[in-house]
Amino acid sequence: MCGIVGAISKNKNILPILITGLKNLEYRGYDSAGIAYLKNKKIKITKVAGKVTNLSSKLNKEDTSTVGIAHTRWATHGSANSINAHPHKVNHITIVHNGIIENFKELKEMLISLNYKFKSTTDTEVAAALLDFYYDKFKDINKTITEFMKNVKGSYAISMLIDNDLESIYVLKKESPLIIGTANNMNIIASDIRAILKYTNKYFILDDFEYAKISTDDITIYNKDQNIINKKLNIYQDKDDNTSKGNYKHYMLKEIMDQKDTILNTALPFIEKGIISILNMPDLTKYSKIDIVGCGTAYHAGLVAKYLFRELTNTKCDVYLASEYRYENNFLNKDVLTIFISQSGETADTIAALKLVKEKACPTLGIINVKNSTMTYLVDTCLYTKAGSEIAVASTKAYTAQVTLLALLVLSHGYRNKTISKSKTLQIIDEFNNINKLITPLLKQKERYIKIANSIYKEENIFYIGRGLDYAFSMEGALKLKEISYIHSEAYAAGELKHGTISLIKKNTPVLCSATNDKLNSKTISNLKEVIARGAKVYLITNNNYEDESFSIINIPKTSDFIKTILVIIPYQLIAYYTADLRGTDIDKPKNLAKSVTVE
Ligand code: G6P
Repeated sequence: MCGIVGAISKNKNILPILITGLKNLEYRGYDSAGIAYLKNKKIKITKVAGKVTNLSSKLNKEDTSTVGIAHTRWATHGSANSINAHPHKVNHITIVHNGIIENFKELKEMLISLNYKFKSTTDTEVAAALLDFYYDKFKDINKTITEFMKNVKGSYAISMLIDNDLESIYVLKKESPLIIGTANNMNIIASDIRAILKYTNKYFILDDFEYAKISTDDITIYNKDQNIINKKLNIYQDKDDNTSKGNYKHYMLKEIMDQKDTILNTALPFIEKGIISILNMPDLTKYSKIDIVGCGTAYHAGLVAKYLFRELTNTKCDVYLASEYRYENNFLNKDVLTIFISQSGETADTIAALKLVKEKACPTLGIINVKNSTMTYLVDTCLYTKAGSEIAVASTKAYTAQVTLLALLVLSHGYRNKTISKSKTLQIIDEFNNINKLITPLLKQKERYIKIANSIYKEENIFYIGRGLDYAFSMEGALKLKEISYIHSEAYAAGELKHGTISLIKKNTPVLCSATNDKLNSKTISNLKEVIARGAKVYLITNNNYEDESFSIINIPKTSDFIKTILVIIPYQLIAYYTADLRGTDIDKPKNLAKSVTVE
C-alpha cells in the first residue's frame, strides 16, 4: 500500500510535482501524507494526518525546492497520525517506504541497544535507523544499502535522502513496486506510473534487490552485488486513458457508466471476427484443471468463471483467495493452469501466490488491467482487461471487464472441447456484440435505484442471497455496498440462510436477491418467502416475469449465462452507489480501504 513519489531537477520547483504525484497516488492509501525537501541546504519535513490536500495546505506557499520525496500512507504499524506519517528522518537518513519490514521488532531492539531512539511506532522509522547505522559504520552508501538488503526481511520500496549527498535521491526495492522516470530536466521516481505520467512516459522498472542513485542528469542502477546494470527503458503507450471525472459527482459513478464502453472494448479482440476471434483466446484443452486466484472483487470474478467452466464446459475448476492459497497445499502439477486475476497487478497476496506457482514451474495466465504492472511480467500469458484507469477504490468496470474476459475464455474453451456447439458459440458472440443495447437500459434506471437506496440507507444490516451464479453475484453486490456505505452487508447461498443467519431477519431487514437461473429460481423464491414471512423487505433482480407484490423487482433481459454475468451486477453497483451517496460517505476513497493492497 502507500504511494511514493520523488523528484530531482536542476532548475524546476519540484514541490507542485510531488503534490500532484501524491494526489494521483492517493488511491493507494490516504490515512496520512508527508514530504521531505531540500530547503536552504537542509531537509525540511512536513507531515499531516489525513489526505494530501491537508498536506498541500500546510506547506509554506513561498517554498520552492529542486529535490524531494513524498508519501501517502495506509497505516500498517501504528495509527494514522502525523508522527507515524512518512518521511522518517533518523540522523543522516530520511526515507519514505512502502511495504512491511517483517523483522522490525528484532531490528528495533538491536538499534535501541545501540542508543537509537524512536518517535513513531512504525517499521519505517526502524528501517531509517538501520540505514543510518550502516551508513555511520561503513561511510559508504553502496555497502549501506546492500547490507540493509541482506538483513531486512519483508517487503520494501524505499526512497531516501542522505544529508551528506543532497544532490541525489536513492531508491531500493524488494517486492513493493518502484519505477524511475526520466523527464525534461528532471528525474522522477514513483511507486507507480500514474504519479509521473503528466511529466513523462519513459521509465525504468526496478527489480527485487536492485537499487539506484538518481541525480539531476544521471540514473545509475545497481544489483545486489553493487555492480552497475543496464536496464530497459520502458515507454508507456496508453496516453489516451481518460482519468478525468467529467461531470460526475464521483469517479465510481463515472466508472459504472463507463462500462458501456469498457466491456465491449475488452471483448472486441475476441468477438469481432466471429469464431476466428474467439480462437484468439489461449487454448485450455491441454489442461486437466483450472485454478483461479485473486482477492476481493477479482476473487468474485473468479467465482463467476468457476461456475461457467464447470457448468458449461464440464471442466474442473476451483477458485481461491490469494491470501489463503499461498499457505495451502495446492496439489499443483503441470497439467493445472492457474489463472491470476487482478485489476492493479500489484496485490501482494496475489503476487506471492503467483510466485509460488512459478517456483513449481506450473503454467500461469494473468487477467490484469494495469499494463506493465508487476504481475504482467510474472505470468506466462497475460490477457489485458481494457477497463482503463479505475480510480474509485470500489471496483466496478474492472470487475465487468474481468468477467467479460473470463466468460469469453470459457466460451472459447467450450467451443474447443465441444461442450458448446458452433451455433451456440456464434449466438453468444452475437450477444456480446450487442452488449451495449443490453447494458444501457440498466444504467439508465437511476430513479429506480434511488428509490431502493432511500428505503435501505438507514439500515445497519442487509443480506444478499442467491444460488449458483447468483450467489457469486450476491457476494460482489454485498461487497460493493459494505465498501462504500459502511452498512454491514453479507451474502449467503440462499439455501444456507436457514442454517443460522435467518435468526437475524426481523421486520424490515432488507434482503436483496438475484434469481436468474430457471433451474434454481423456484427454490430461491421459496427462500425469499421464508424471509418475507419473518418481516424482511425483499428486492429481487430477475430475468423472469414474476408478479408478486411482496417483492420489489428489477428486471434484466433474458440472455445466455455468459452475458448474464455482466448484467446482474449493474443494478447492485448502482444501488450500492446511491445508498452510500445518501449516507454521505467518501465514496471514491472509503475509510480504511486502499485500491492497491501491496502488503500481506
Ligand atoms: C483491494 C481493493 C479491491 C480489489 C482488491 C484486489 O481490496 O479495494 O477493490 O478488488 O484489492 O485488487 P486487485 O488489484 O488485485 O484486483
